[in-house]
Amino acid sequence: MPGKLQSEKNSKAPKPGKSSGRFTEKPGVAAPYRNPRLPVDERVEDLLARMTIGEKTDQLMQTFVGESDNPNNVGSGSFRPTIGSVVGFWHGAGPQNNFQRMAVEQSRLGIPIMWGMDVIHGQHTIFPIPLAQACSFNPELTRMGCEVAALESAPAGVNWTFAPMVDICRDPRWGRVAEGFGEDPHVGSRFAAAAVKGFQGAKFVPGRNMASCLKHFCGYGFSEGGRDYSYSDISRQTLWETVLPPFHAGVNAGAMTLMSSFNDITGTPAVINRYTLTEVLRTRWGFKGFVVSDWNAVSQLARQGFSADPKAQTRAALAAGNDMEMVDTQYLCIPELVRDGRLAVKVVNEAVRRVLRVKFRIGLFEMPYASERPLEEYALLPEYLAKAEAAAAETLVLLKNAGGVLPLAGKFKTLALLGPAAANGGCMKGTWGGLGSEARMTTIEMGLREKLPAGCRLLHARGCDFEGADRSGFAEALAAARESDAIVICLGEPGDGSGEDQSRANIRLHGAQEDLLREAAALGKPLALVLCAGRPLDLFTAEPLAPAILNAWQPGIRGGAAIADVLLGNVNPSGRLAITFPRTAGHIPTFHAQRRRSREQGFYRDMGAEPLYPFGHGLSYTTFSYGNVTLGARKIRAGRALKAKVTVTNTGLRPGKETVLWYVSDPEAGITQPELRLIGFEKIELAPGEAKEVAIRIDAWRDLSYPDCDGRRILEPGRFLLRAGTGEPAEFVLEGALRAGRLE
Ligand code: BGC
Repeated sequence: MPGKLQSEKNSKAPKPGKSSGRFTEKPGVAAPYRNPRLPVDERVEDLLARMTIGEKTDQLMQTFVGESDNPNNVGSGSFRPTIGSVVGFWHGAGPQNNFQRMAVEQSRLGIPIMWGMDVIHGQHTIFPIPLAQACSFNPELTRMGCEVAALESAPAGVNWTFAPMVDICRDPRWGRVAEGFGEDPHVGSRFAAAAVKGFQGAKFVPGRNMASCLKHFCGYGFSEGGRDYSYSDISRQTLWETVLPPFHAGVNAGAMTLMSSFNDITGTPAVINRYTLTEVLRTRWGFKGFVVSDWNAVSQLARQGFSADPKAQTRAALAAGNDMEMVDTQYLCIPELVRDGRLAVKVVNEAVRRVLRVKFRIGLFEMPYASERPLEEYALLPEYLAKAEAAAAETLVLLKNAGGVLPLAGKFKTLALLGPAAANGGCMKGTWGGLGSEARMTTIEMGLREKLPAGCRLLHARGCDFEGADRSGFAEALAAARESDAIVICLGEPGDGSGEDQSRANIRLHGAQEDLLREAAALGKPLALVLCAGRPLDLFTAEPLAPAILNAWQPGIRGGAAIADVLLGNVNPSGRLAITFPRTAGHIPTFHAQRRRSREQGFYRDMGAEPLYPFGHGLSYTTFSYGNVTLGARKIRAGRALKAKVTVTNTGLRPGKETVLWYVSDPEAGITQPELRLIGFEKIELAPGEAKEVAIRIDAWRDLSYPDCDGRRILEPGRFLLRAGTGEPAEFVLEGALRAGRLE
């Protein structure tokens, strides 16, 4: 419920300055900034010129009202009608409109507030978590999911979402790996662009779209040891190769805002990092929107060892290019800093300009209020649920299927359903589940009951919890298993087991889960393990126990139905891993785009070098064969493109979807390159026996150059190899002289 409101009188906020009189509105004549027909920049300048330093300061602040559903973020907000933005976590147009009315009607200039919320993978209709979405290798599903999220949020006044999170992460111990699109920068870039387009639409329509916010800028996914909020040691080479590309793609797709991250990037915390926030983002990429800090990140500069002085923090953050602070109140010292000549007013003006520009662009001045339409009119519509189910079906990854255990249809009359994730709504909803309620999630049990073939029985017994050594439920679960012809055992993490501040050193199955699996498997019946988790788990000891493994991630509101369809064979699984499953946590970091070692030997002595399941892995109920990659020419020059093709055939008996992954290898390079670099992917559908030619157009600059440590692209002549699937790779030569391009 709305937090404590503070009146202007009691607030520590700067008082709105007095009007100079110069801009007093003549009765009946609207000020130019109120005129929607004028260009945005003209309106911004007009409004900026009317603002006092106090009003400008407030536009750079975001306060918090209501109750945070994030236990890591505590704090009470202090609302003022002149505040720039609110972060709030409840639903309903009523409260939003009350605040907005105060901003629009009770402040001198009537500047509406931006209402921000974490709508990450759905608001009411919950889609699979972003990591799962990436495994669909179908960015259109993400665009569609984000569009639905906006359609369910914007009518209630949420005009800004803190999404998408595009942090590349190669450490599944980090709980927030669930929120991003996996380990690969090309995948991350394609999904970042799709999400931005989904939230913001092709053309922003107030009441239907939300401004997106690329986060966390940047390098948060590289927190030391996967420990949340930790230092991140990122070389400039890694920054340009791996960390920045998804942000660049999101900016190019039109993202209106970015969130700076909590982490300290190699000695300069992200919120005061001028290199990333200004040099890269503004000067090179031409970003015109604004940057908000993460929650309390400005005051946290004290803990990080920069300074405990709010004035030093404020100056550094603003000078670096962090325009708005989230929940913190350090920026309240702006008027004093300006008055004392320690902060140039033009720095403040520029930040305010960026905030106002976004407010005008999203039509906030014309349409500040939420519609009072009833929720049933725009949320949880049957078509949205169908979209969520279709999306979930494409995100499930069949990791293992020894002896063709799956699909189960026709192989049982009685099915045992065991494990703590089987009837658990939280496991479907996952982390950051918007306003979605667990009770509305289709659990695996519900999905199976909905889809079970006529005449079949389901025996459900939980067996154990996610944590703890309690085995008192084993007897019932094993009795159900004995009575059945096949077993589905659903294990993993609880729905809130990943996400913010959910770093874990032990990412194996916790508690008695593995024992339950062992004892159920010992019965020798067909058994499928369904894993529900927001991260790749360490399956070192569990994997050998299960003949079939379906990795379901946290698949959203219709997740249980999609899982049932795959288990029963109504849907052929087509997810592929967008993140590597390590053989064991001791292998972390392990990811597909690794560089080669100087010697063949040198890997751990106690274990093979291969991950348990590599990036791109995912089985199907059909089989696909690949021809050799063929090229339009054997040579390519800078500025030119080269066409390549590969034929993929469905050699099995069922229709299926296959993701063609295109990799390039650059075996001799001035700056050494990963052994395999993903440059493209395409998902296709094939009927049994059908063959399709899949083509890629290789653009020399885009696909064959690499960045140096300052983001300058280098195109180096020489030999390259192009691979797709299991066929022979094709070799070609890039001709010409070494070239260095513009800074990115
Ligand atoms: C998280 C952000 C989130 C913000 C607002 C922070 O703790 O790091 O990702 O957007 O809270 O809820």
